[in-house]
Amino acid sequence: MWGGRFAEGPSAIMREINASIPFDKALWRQDISASKAHVAMLAACDIVSVEDARLIEDGLDRIAGEYETNGVPENWDLEDIHMTTESRLAELIGPAAGRLHTARSRNDQVATDFRLWTRDAIDQVDAGLAALQRALVAQASEHAGSIMPGFTHLQTAQPVTLGHHLMAYYEMIRRDRSRFQDARRRLNENPLGSAALAGTGFPIDREMTTQALGFDTPTRNSLDAVSDRDFALDYLQAAAQCSLHLSRLAEEFIIWASQPFGFVRMPDTLSTGSSIMPQKKNPDAAELVRGHAGRIIGCATSLMVSMKGLPLAYSKDMQDDKPPVFEAAGLLGLSIAAMTGMVADTTFRTDKMRQAAEMGFATATDLADWLVREADIPFREAHHITGAAVKLAESKGVALEKLSLAELKAIDSRIDEGVYPALSVEASVAARASLGGTAPDQVRRQVAAAAQELGIT
Ligand code: ARG
Repeated sequence: MWGGRFAEGPSAIMREINASIPFDKALWRQDISASKAHVAMLAACDIVSVEDARLIEDGLDRIAGEYETNGVPENWDLEDIHMTTESRLAELIGPAAGRLHTARSRNDQVATDFRLWTRDAIDQVDAGLAALQRALVAQASEHAGSIMPGFTHLQTAQPVTLGHHLMAYYEMIRRDRSRFQDARRRLNENPLGSAALAGTGFPIDREMTTQALGFDTPTRNSLDAVSDRDFALDYLQAAAQCSLHLSRLAEEFIIWASQPFGFVRMPDTLSTGSSIMPQKKNPDAAELVRGHAGRIIGCATSLMVSMKGLPLAYSKDMQDDKPPVFEAAGLLGLSIAAMTGMVADTTFRTDKMRQAAEMGFATATDLADWLVREADIPFREAHHITGAAVKLAESKGVALEKLSLAELKAIDSRIDEGVYPALSVEASVAARASLGGTAPDQVRRQVAAAAQELGIT
């Protein structure tokens, strides 16, 4: 494709280090769409004849059919998907194939293909995340009133509802979807027509290819357009943040499934056994989601480091932009699907969760709040009194509400028997009815708002 000024061909090592076809063949669909849009535009602008354009378009369709059935051939001499397709086109239609690359460079071509690919990847992630949200909402609706211990520092803090806990993840995924949509909006500009770096002398119509490829607008600066990979970084950074949410959720399941917790029975379909210990059922899928987050974050880091020192415009370092994006997309898709299955098919052992909520003095704050409300004691003092009650209960090895009224009165005479109802876990969660709080009614509101957002009726 470029041998004219060379006396010798590339060495074996040059061919190998230069070849991107092993991975960029994943762009073949986008490459063919972009080439078809380009040649239709060239014909409309009288830059190539209508006959040649027709030949090229038919040839590209045939190649698409071949790739579809046989896969993309990997010939290192042809370097990448762009040259692989163009050389096959020449085999199929002869010299007219050479007109396709008029007013175009692989630099704007690859920028265009990669944007299109990333846009599709965003749309797939969005659909996957919506499914995960639906699974969360379904379980949260079922468990709006199921009581579990809420933790800070992984120490029992206050009772919460399982629905509330699951809806917290709904919110994280909601932000992830919005980050991907932001990325999509910024991505959706058309670099085609920027040519190698400086634009082209041919009278092209960039609005036409913009429309044909579903972009919102042409990019505004050709130097930027061929050297920009912000769209890939936006995608990777959104993916990294999303993966860390999935990893946190996976971690919860891992903890909940452990025997000392016993809060969940994970689906058999997303667990594995041990080759030696017959009793084992391991949360491998969740652990891999947690592990994949590390790799996805690594992908984002990898591309940032590749880009950080590059002068304008294109440099070959940028060929290394694709593997991290492809890898992250694959890992993220699997992680989302695994967590969706886990949320949908896990059995929550609400009896065990409730028991755990009743341990660890989870309603101590409710005692302090009661003293503030009923005896008009300043909160700091109420906190101190309650601390003394917890200390006594702990030394006796009983729950707070198992202390006798005499014992409580000995700590502070203003306590009366009216305190006992406030110390149940039900009363505790029901009391936290502030907007966004853990009370079952609040959770049902969150679930209803989410269902509306997702278009569930
Ligand atoms: N395979 C190349 C890449 O992915 C295509 C662009 C090549 N451009 C160039 N000037 N060598 O980046």
